[in-house]
Amino acid sequence: MSFRLPHSAKNWLSFSGAVIALLSLLLIIFFWLISLNAQGGASYLGIISYIILPGILIFGLILIPAGMLRTRKKRQSIPERWPEIDLNVRSHRNAFFIFTTGTLLFVFLSAFGSYEVFHLSESVEFCGTLCHTVMNPEYTAYQHSAHARVACVECHVGSGANWYVRSKLSGLYQIYSVTFNKFPRPISTPVKNLRPARETCERCHWPQKFYTYNQKNEIHFLPDKQNTTWKIDLTLKLGARHSSQGLSEGIHWHINPDVHIEYMAADSTRQEIPWVRYTNIKTGERHTFIDDENPPDSLLKVNAKTRTMDCMDCHNRPSHDYRPPSFFVNSLLITDSIPKALPEIKSLAMELCEPEYGTNDSAMQAMRSGITSFYMQNYPVLAEKNVPLIKKAIRGLQTSYQQNIFPEMKVRWSAYPNNIGHLEFKGCFRCHNGNHVSSDGSVITRKCTVCHLINAQGTPDKMQLASYGKSLKFKHPVDIDNEWEESLCTECHTGLNP
Ligand code: HEC
Ligand code: HEC
Ligand code: HEC
Ligand code: HEC
Ligand code: HEC
Ligand code: HEC
Repeated sequence: MSFRLPHSAKNWLSFSGAVIALLSLLLIIFFWLISLNAQGGASYLGIISYIILPGILIFGLILIPAGMLRTRKKRQSIPERWPEIDLNVRSHRNAFFIFTTGTLLFVFLSAFGSYEVFHLSESVEFCGTLCHTVMNPEYTAYQHSAHARVACVECHVGSGANWYVRSKLSGLYQIYSVTFNKFPRPISTPVKNLRPARETCERCHWPQKFYTYNQKNEIHFLPDKQNTTWKIDLTLKLGARHSSQGLSEGIHWHINPDVHIEYMAADSTRQEIPWVRYTNIKTGERHTFIDDENPPDSLLKVNAKTRTMDCMDCHNRPSHDYRPPSFFVNSLLITDSIPKALPEIKSLAMELCEPEYGTNDSAMQAMRSGITSFYMQNYPVLAEKNVPLIKKAIRGLQTSYQQNIFPEMKVRWSAYPNNIGHLEFKGCFRCHNGNHVSSDGSVITRKCTVCHLINAQGTPDKMQLASYGKSLKFKHPVDIDNEWEESLCTECHTGLNP
């Protein structure tokens, strides 16, 4: 007994379609088996086995009926007639069973496949590693953040089909811009149309969970010969002193549901804020503050869109914080990853981070030769005796540099301001600079004690201590008269120190 198929199925087009479909099915199974054991690179395998190969499979399947239709058309005089299926004819019966089992199998496999595609495209690995150089800075910073175990999509997509589709559409555009090398370096920020914090951050952190005071113990090293240590202990007034008072005062007062703050920015990175409006939703009280040193021009007022303040206006770097050298060099000295015993190492390290190197390799090279030659020239005896210390300093600086600065993508702290403080970036002082005045004369305050108390400051052997609950008057580590009261910290502090 021979296996019969309709005549129309016997043509080279349908035949090659069947072969293509079968081969890609086998390959899909093969790659799927590999991916079960794969450690890294699973996202590349995933792309092949769940996106590219199924495409080819479908193409092959389409060729089968296309070939059949073509032969029928060639043979029949009235092509509009539908094919007749008679299950009593053996060739029809065979074709019918092949078609129905094939379709069922295909539907099952595509359900499985789409599920895998969904998972794949939502995975941290997919977002972080697929476009390697492009996402490397974000992915690296992310891995060193408090959110290293929160998936990218939790903040960037959130829940709901609407945002899922939107993100995939913009994802398609991103694939295009990466393929044709059209993406900006650095990738522009703030992210346009980032989903509001209410629908992302607030699923894990919610305003009704109140924070009270928070301690910060900062250790700085001055750029002098001894790398003098300078400590500052602060109490940040995150919320009210007692959590039962909720969001009535303190830094998180801005997210009190009764508080509505809108602003207009004069630049795309939202660093210049000449116009702020505060509305108390409960009482209807409203103040509009204008920066009297830098007033918004009429054009801005007409064109700019107002933005409602949310978590991300302060916490704009919750997971991609590119630290300035002034910050990471201090951290390296604290952990002794850069030995404090090396004279002038603080200022030298900062100097080496300043140039915009073309590649990571050239930066690494500059650090190695810069540190080595500095000590050979200026401290030859020390350099000879302390080779391990010098090597340690080089390694320490190189490691932190690679975690924070990415020459290939032009990513460095200055490209991505962090709005949480006011030392290296304007941050809070975008509004709290003492110049934002409302028509009734009230000012968005710049009083140091509104946001924090200074409990202790000074060098370890000469610390000033405050009495409990009181704040010391800030003492600037080097004498700059009262400049720190008059101008913004950022006028001198740029992340590299003056
Ligand atoms: C905790 C939330 C969170 C997580 C997790 C997160 N991001 Fe982000 N991401 C943000 C915020 C907030 C911004 C910047 C918002 C702004 O300034 O508009 C941002 C910005 C970005 C940008 C724009 C460039 C920049 O640095 O501003 C890229 C690209 C990006 N994220 C990729 C990723 C990738 C890839 C992952 C996962 C490896 C990830 N993000 C995980 C919150 C997150
Ligand atoms: C899926 C849950 C989740 C989401 C979504 C999320 N976070 Fe977090 N967040 C966490 C976890 C977990 C921690 C770590 C807590 C810890 O280390 O004790 C954290 C820590 C933090 C901290 C303290 C960070 C630090 O450096 O110590 C801040 C601030 C924060 N998140 C802000 C945000 C903001 C802003 C967003 C939205 C862009 C966000 N989070 C979205 C889970 C989340
Ligand atoms: C006006 C600016 C501002 C806004 C708006 C803001 N925060 Fe904060 N938040 C801060 C500051 C400042 C800190 C303290 C940072 C530090 O300790 O370095 C902080 C700390 C936190 C912490 C860590 C608390 C801890 O005990 O360490 C979390 C979590 C957090 N914020 C979540 C949020 C969430 C969620 C939102 C939005 C609903 C939000 N914040 C809105 C300024 C803000
Ligand atoms: C977009 C503008 C804006 C930014 C940015 C901003 N604030 Fe405010 N802040 C305001 C306004 C407006 C008020 C209310 C002023 C008033 O009515 O006196 C306020 C009030 C406060 C108060 C007093 C709340 C109380 O107890 O009544 C604190 C504390 C505060 N801000 C801290 C911060 C910190 C810390 C940052 C930076 C992390 C920051 N703010 C960033 C606009 C801003
Ligand atoms: C609107 C709120 C606000 C005002 C006003 C303010 N600060 Fe701060 N300040 C902050 C916040 C928030 C941080 C913590 C930043 C962080 O978490 O990294 C901070 C941090 C600091 C630090 C520690 C910096 C470091 O990295 O060690 C010093 C010092 C400081 N402030 C001094 C001052 C002085 C002096 C004034 C008055 C001229 C002032 N601040 C006014 C909000 C404020
Ligand atoms: C007129 C310029 C100027 C202004 C304004 C200024 N500083 Fe400084 N600051 C300096 C100089 C100079 C040093 C010493 C570091 C150096 O010489 O590189 C320094 C050092 C510091 C250090 C030790 C830093 C380190 O890690 O090396 C802290 C902390 C600091 N300043 C805080 C502040 C704060 C907070 C403000 C704003 C309230 C401020 N400064 C405003 C010039 C300034």
